[in-house]
Amino acid sequence: APAESAAVAAQRILRVGVVGCGVMGAGLAEACARAGREVRVVASGDQGMARGRRRLERSLENGVRKGKITDSGRAAVMDRVSFVTELGYLADRQLVLEAAPEDEATKLEIFRTLDQVVQDPEAILASNTSSIPIAKLGRATERPGRVVGVHFFNPVSVLPLVEVISSLLTDERTGAVTEAFVTDVLGKEVVRAGDRSGFVVNALLIPYLISAIRMFESGFAPAEDIDRGMTLGCSHPMGPLALADLIGLDIVAAVSQALYEEFKEPVHAVPPVLSRMVDSGLLGRKTGRGFYSYA
Ligand code: 3HC
Repeated sequence: APAESAAVAAQRILRVGVVGCGVMGAGLAEACARAGREVRVVASGDQGMARGRRRLERSLENGVRKGKITDSGRAAVMDRVSFVTELGYLADRQLVLEAAPEDEATKLEIFRTLDQVVQDPEAILASNTSSIPIAKLGRATERPGRVVGVHFFNPVSVLPLVEVISSLLTDERTGAVTEAFVTDVLGKEVVRAGDRSGFVVNALLIPYLISAIRMFESGFAPAEDIDRGMTLGCSHPMGPLALADLIGLDIVAAVSQALYEEFKEPVHAVPPVLSRMVDSGLLGRKTGRGFYSYA
């Protein structure tokens, strides 16, 4: 019999696992639960679970306030999401979305473990990495054909784009089912990208953010003027420094570093002020202070 179409296979994905419950993990869990999927989120410890649940609740409340979701819709979404602290609870998942910290050793270890625990050989193991080669994550498993990149954008509930990255080892079918899931099930838009650092969007965005940080660092213009230049002059929804704060300065630095290692271009080199802010725990919105302060 002919294999079922990718679209049918995507509709059959009902049980989703999410690894990590930071800004992106919570956003991914929300997107999948709003699409009617049962979601199990792996957080680190009781505190991680509580924080993840709060993040999810806050985003849903925002959706209710903006009229994008009803009160009962919100309750239904929360009912579909459960929180656990061990990857072992993902044994029956058909799709796992990994959104752990942007650190290669951490992600490799997670993929090694997922390979051991996820029972269904057809399951898709996906990473939300911005910069780590999907091929490396694939080779941490015995099923590199089922490993794929799915790169979402922050805030996940607002931004429609997902980059889908097939490595040299990813099966064509895995890419097709992943794309069908993202478009038909999650209702988002796909851009396909090759397996190189930064994919499409960050390869363009990071040099821009780094340039703005250098402009700030050199004292050429104050933060507010740099940002107003781009919001008022180019109609961007946020200026580059406010956006770096939103993304998280640790993430901006990690992705810049990865791009630098991949391409060896000075434009990707992490500016000292960014390194020092990260060293100081000034990571932007999520810690209350970055280029701006957040009450
Ligand atoms: N569900 C559905 N929709 C929601 C929602 C929710 N939970 N929360 C908000 N929305 C909708 C709102 O209704 C509104 O839509 P409308 O205009 O049709 O009413 C829209 O989303 C904007 O929401 P808000 O009013 O809450 O927010 P603002 O208008 O103040 O915009 C912002 C805030 C969305 C952050 C905007 O400034 C923006 O888009 N900034 C740029 C963000 C960006 O560039 N992100 C990419 C980062 S790069 C990245 O993530 C990659 C990484 O690898 C580095």
